[in-house]
Amino acid sequence: MNIILLGPPGAGKGTQAERLVAERGMVQLSTGDMLRAAVASGTPTGLKAKAVMEAGELVSDEIVSGIIGEKLDTLSAETGVIFDGYPRTAAQAESLDALLAARRRRLDHVIELAVDEDALVARITGRFTCATCGAGYHDTFKQPKEAGVCDACGSTTFKRRPDDNEATVRTRLAEYRNKTAPILPIYEVRGLVHRVDGMADMADVTKAIAAVLGE
Ligand code: AP5
Ligand code: MG
Repeated sequence: MNIILLGPPGAGKGTQAERLVAERGMVQLSTGDMLRAAVASGTPTGLKAKAVMEAGELVSDEIVSGIIGEKLDTLSAETGVIFDGYPRTAAQAESLDALLAARRRRLDHVIELAVDEDALVARITGRFTCATCGAGYHDTFKQPKEAGVCDACGSTTFKRRPDDNEATVRTRLAEYRNKTAPILPIYEVRGLVHRVDGMADMADVTKAIAAVLGE
């Protein structure tokens, strides 16, 4: 099964993808995570992407579609894929169609996480992740069970993203509104879009997605 999680910054794409990976053995392809890894290791892609990401703007379509294609080639045909944060423009949606067709993969569902923009700033500015395994947390909504210790791997080091500040979040939201939300109709006409209430409790969002995906 191949699915897209679509929603603005802070909608819960990463949170829900993490659960689908744990529960269904799917693979999460997050262009944001891949770009952050490229920035951290100083690759040519990372050098190009760094300032764009810090400004909250979109990295070029060629770069992101290129890294998605490379990752798809490392997966076996049976592995289900969750596209998290890709595609984000009409050009990327077209590239994804071509990338999937060339690998005889089919897009099964597009899950739209519908959220209230005002709540997103609080979600994003409170977010932190484990520096060792990447598990996601939130100052208010999801603290580790034992303060300062990662539930998943026991690490005591956490980090925050440089683009998780209010000014940059506003730009990221505008990019979503202007460039990403307009691609929904491409999938609506194909009957692939399922709208899920992303403002519900994390566990309820997970249940709503499970209802779409089935057993
Ligand atoms: P990316 O990393 O994709 O960031 P984003 O789209 O802005 O989305 P986020 O990761 O911020 O939010 P999320 O939906 O994953 O929310 P999360 O689950 O963490 O992209 C970063 C940058 O990379 C872009 O700005 C761009 O520059 C570049 N980029 C990436 N992909 C690109 C592409 N395809 N094309 C061009 N450029 C690209 O949740 C947020 C917080 O809320 C967490 O703390 C979580 O615990 C909490 N939370 C989640 N769900 C709930 C809930 N139901 N209730 C309460 N709290 C919740
Ligand atoms: Mg994310």
